[in-house]
Amino acid sequence: MIVSMPHFPAFPYREGELYVENLSLTEIARKFGTPCYVYSRAALHSAFAAYREALAAHSLLERTTVCYAVKANSSLAILNVFARLGAGFDIVSGGELARVIAAGGDPAKVVFSGVGKTHEEMRAALTAGIRCFNIESPDELERLNEISAEVFGSNGKRAPIAFRVNPNVDPKTHPYISTGLKSNKFGITYEDALALYRRAQALPNLEIKGIDCHIGSQLLDPAPAAEATQKILALVDKLAADGIVLEHIDLGGGMGIRYREEIVPSANDYLAPMLNQLQGRHERLILEPGRSLVGNAGILLTKVEHLKHGAEKNFAIVDAAMNDLMRPALYDAWHEIYQVSQNNGAAQAAEKSYEIVGPICESGDFLGHGRSLALDEGDLLAIMSAGAYGMSMSSNYNSRPRAAEVLVDNNHAYPVRQRESIAQLFALETVLP
Ligand code: LLP
Repeated sequence: MIVSMPHFPAFPYREGELYVENLSLTEIARKFGTPCYVYSRAALHSAFAAYREALAAHSLLERTTVCYAVKANSSLAILNVFARLGAGFDIVSGGELARVIAAGGDPAKVVFSGVGKTHEEMRAALTAGIRCFNIESPDELERLNEISAEVFGSNGKRAPIAFRVNPNVDPKTHPYISTGLKSNKFGITYEDALALYRRAQALPNLEIKGIDCHIGSQLLDPAPAAEATQKILALVDKLAADGIVLEHIDLGGGMGIRYREEIVPSANDYLAPMLNQLQGRHERLILEPGRSLVGNAGILLTKVEHLKHGAEKNFAIVDAAMNDLMRPALYDAWHEIYQVSQNNGAAQAAEKSYEIVGPICESGDFLGHGRSLALDEGDLLAIMSAGAYGMSMSSNYNSRPRAAEVLVDNNHAYPVRQRESIAQLFALETVLP
């Protein structure tokens, strides 16, 4: 019997065994070990297709570049999948730019966001020929103007810019991932925008291309993004009346995914209130989705090392930890946790409520609280919805080598990142002579 879970279509149960596409996760664990991130190519494709369909339904497909936010998952293999689908990329560092190029991405489709771009990063992005810098402060504007002169000299080229404008809209999400409020460090204020566009116009080495906004992440209600769009469009019109005509409008990322029981709108339902407002306008559109393209395309596969039945709680100590998936520790985020094999034979363990924890020496090192599971030592668990902000936020805390990554395409598993070795962890270190 095949039981597919509607929100994780790439991860169905077949005869009680959890699969990724047409491969059993038990088989993947046997071959590549645990902890291991496992991604589905089909799920990446279908998430990207959902954006294309929503854009096509609004006759905006030809005018839009979907710039995948690299920070969500910067695996070269995943960047390459999106590059082949024609995506652009939203980057926030020179490291991400180098990854995009190494993965076969087109620099001409790259937008560069972030509040702290360094001289070197600006130089690298100008040399690579990116599509646009999303400028987040007056200081950054002046610096880019100078560096553009250095890089381009008198060859007539100028640095392409947009301002990231803060529309002061409450996105109603976790405070750590809300970015469009006045109190956040991001963007320039709405009120300062006109004066800064005028300043940019006066600078010789910059070329005004567009406007940008991004209000937050894991947004499930389309209303805040629609409100932000309305504010941005009003500003675009005000700028045009002032003689500053923009080529593109970048509405950022932020569309949420289902982690638990959230009611998640379809991509079209989420985007329609924004896209409707663009009907009949001439500007090109850029979107910067991250989580919604990769989040439910990946899981973290882990093995139960020990079961510990304490005085008050039962602990399942697994071989993945907060260094592999930081979201529960950092945001108290919920990830579904499924047993990979529901066929534990005759001697089935009793179902108990477990704290699913890692081996790290922190009480915050948990992946899930109070999960009802029938566990034995050695069982495999799948931490769901781990494709976004999982591996990309991982660390080597407690000198733990980072997990392996496997990308599955139908019934082929491709090891796209080897497990780190212990020697690699301190290969760059030395002791005093
Ligand atoms: N564009 C900009 C300028 C951003 O700052 C972000 C995310 C995105 C696009 C992509 O947003 P998305 O479509 O993924 O929501 N670590 C957190 C999420 C941090 C998001 C930071 N910015 C988490 O694990 O939930």
